[in-house]
Amino acid sequence: MSTHIEERAYAKLNLSLDVVSKMPDGYHDLKMIFQSVSLYDDVGIDINDSGNISVTSNLGYLPNDASNIAARAAKAFFAEIGLGCGADIRLYKRIPVCAGMGGGSADGAAVLRALNRHFDHPIDTEKLISIGRDIGSDVPFCIIGGTVLAIGRGDVMSELPPIPDCDIVICKPQFSISTPALFKRIDCRKLRLRPDTDGLVSSIRSGDLHGIARRVYNVFEDVLTKERDRIEHIKAVMHQHGAVGAAMTGTGSAVFGMFDSRECAQSAYDELSEQYHECFITKPVKKFE
Ligand code: C5P
Repeated sequence: MSTHIEERAYAKLNLSLDVVSKMPDGYHDLKMIFQSVSLYDDVGIDINDSGNISVTSNLGYLPNDASNIAARAAKAFFAEIGLGCGADIRLYKRIPVCAGMGGGSADGAAVLRALNRHFDHPIDTEKLISIGRDIGSDVPFCIIGGTVLAIGRGDVMSELPPIPDCDIVICKPQFSISTPALFKRIDCRKLRLRPDTDGLVSSIRSGDLHGIARRVYNVFEDVLTKERDRIEHIKAVMHQHGAVGAAMTGTGSAVFGMFDSRECAQSAYDELSEQYHECFITKPVKKFE
């Protein structure tokens, strides 16, 4: 006997990313604004009573054992509610991998949300977030979605109002950037530019799309080395086609451009997709139900 449930795992972007300080444990204290977008992975779960958890996906190179973030999320959920259930999880991935778009975290969070709904919400959101924190840095945000100001490791969150409707073009170049390597390059005391997070929050609160787009910024862009030219090129193409703002997301390598016109977004997408395989036109997504 098994029961099938499904959930969408939405990608995230960083409208801003600031590295505030290095903490004694070597991790960094961050200040970021997260935004969910309409690009999603499909997460299908067959819940059974086998006690085993398996994961398969359309991408052969992803781990399909207990180390997969979706498997870890299911295991943590069943442990928390004290049920010896099993689950066969099937992922259909669309979110680019190693892109700074929280793809793995989105899948883990979707598993937690879907199981919690199926079992009639035995775990409150605060507890679900604390389970998510142990699974991956972006899982807490991916549990709630929408537009959020996050500090610490990204798990201390304040919800913000939804940003105005717009088109967001995303382009992931073929290379990826190592997250630990990028953190190693950052010296918080020497950063020349920081995002205007307060201005960004005010623009979000007043529904000012141009004020938001003008302020999107990621401090990791300032420590790019061999990757810089590609990232700058993608941003330049976005701007040439009328983007009102563009930035890299997370530790890259995906870049997004915000547009107030669908035609401009389409023409940026058309040009970028001639050169880059992973391009998408997306919309902002509101807080998950
Ligand atoms: O969170 P994730 O496992 O993707 O982080 C990978 C690495 O990035 C960590 O091992 C750490 O070196 C660095 N990191 C950090 N501060 C954070 C998040 C990640 O220094 N807040």
